[in-house]
Amino acid sequence: MKTILLPADPKAAYLAQKDAIDGCVREVMQSGWYILGPHVKRFEETFATYVGAAGCIGVANGTDAVQFALRACGVGPGDAVATVSHTAVATVSAIDWIGARPVLVDIDPITYTMDPSRLDATLRADMAHKIKAVLVVHLYGLAADLDALRELAARHGAALIEDCAQAHGATYRGARVGTFGLCGTFSFYPTKNLGALGDGGAIVSSDPAILDRIKLLHQYGWRERYISKIAGYNSRLDELQAAILSVKLPQLDAGNGRRRVVAARYASAFANMPLVLPVEPEGRGHVYHQYVVRTAQRDALRHHLSDAGIGTAILYPQPIHLQDGYRERVAIGAGGLAESERAAREILCLPVYPELSEAQVDEIVTAVRGFFAV
Ligand SMILES: Cc1ncc(COP(=O)(O)O)c(C=O)c1O
Repeated sequence: MKTILLPADPKAAYLAQKDAIDGCVREVMQSGWYILGPHVKRFEETFATYVGAAGCIGVANGTDAVQFALRACGVGPGDAVATVSHTAVATVSAIDWIGARPVLVDIDPITYTMDPSRLDATLRADMAHKIKAVLVVHLYGLAADLDALRELAARHGAALIEDCAQAHGATYRGARVGTFGLCGTFSFYPTKNLGALGDGGAIVSSDPAILDRIKLLHQYGWRERYISKIAGYNSRLDELQAAILSVKLPQLDAGNGRRRVVAARYASAFANMPLVLPVEPEGRGHVYHQYVVRTAQRDALRHHLSDAGIGTAILYPQPIHLQDGYRERVAIGAGGLAESERAAREILCLPVYPELSEAQVDEIVTAVRGFFAV
């Protein structure tokens, strides 16, 4: 039986740093300090510095990070938030969970991120001024068109928040994503470019008032132990995950670099094929959380690769506005969501992670070329 090459392989990332990770896990276990201790503090400081923000607060996962970011920026029940339908459901569920209404804006078909012209039309149609925030998603590792989106949000008086769950280390005009809006949110789900060995998330910001509010919100509204200043919640990054993330963070740029090498190899190998390949617009640094190709023959290509022992993924197979759980709970932005629906029918994510060997990359290239009989 042929070895199945996984579309993502968090175990390979663990094995690549096994000794250091095992060592830090042992140290935390023996320390007796498991919640909000020195490892969380250290990781928050180093991650804020890495991203280029004044501060960072660790939370339990990337969905909570989005919820807290929205709430800290003043979004609440009855408000609306513009975002995209072509994203992880978490982006939209976080808006819904705080009682706000997601307004879904179509994507640009080349970058798969929010189309500024559609955001413009959506904001112009928002006569009652319900849209209080624009939640931009840097999907697949590529920054969205931040200049245009930020300008539109500012003109409408809406907060810009960045969902960076798939874009650790991605850049826009030389600065890391997460620093362009009022806050940036991250997930450390195990398959992310910076992944924990469990759940984890964080919010970065350079606004002290926002950081202070998130700090209160993420632990029962406490400034001082047992005394709630505001109504809060419990969502903490734990010491074990923070220690593991501190071992992995120094390797993030090298891992992103290796992803870019694999992506460049795919780009040259697939250049003359009937496949739409990812782009890296001028001024943006892609970190290839996913390597996404598109073709009308997507399902056949997927079967062909599976027969060759190569696992692929479809992120995401159904836009959120068509999912039963959200159909009735979202509003559709101006101009509809045709590109989001087309992407869901045509995209395919090929394996792209730092631990892929040259031989495995060759295998993937050969199998894709074989499908098109090149
Ligand atoms: C774009 C995006 N936003 C938010 C999330 C939520 O992160 P988590 O799974 O850590 O809650 C994810 C991860 O799945 C994501 O990809």
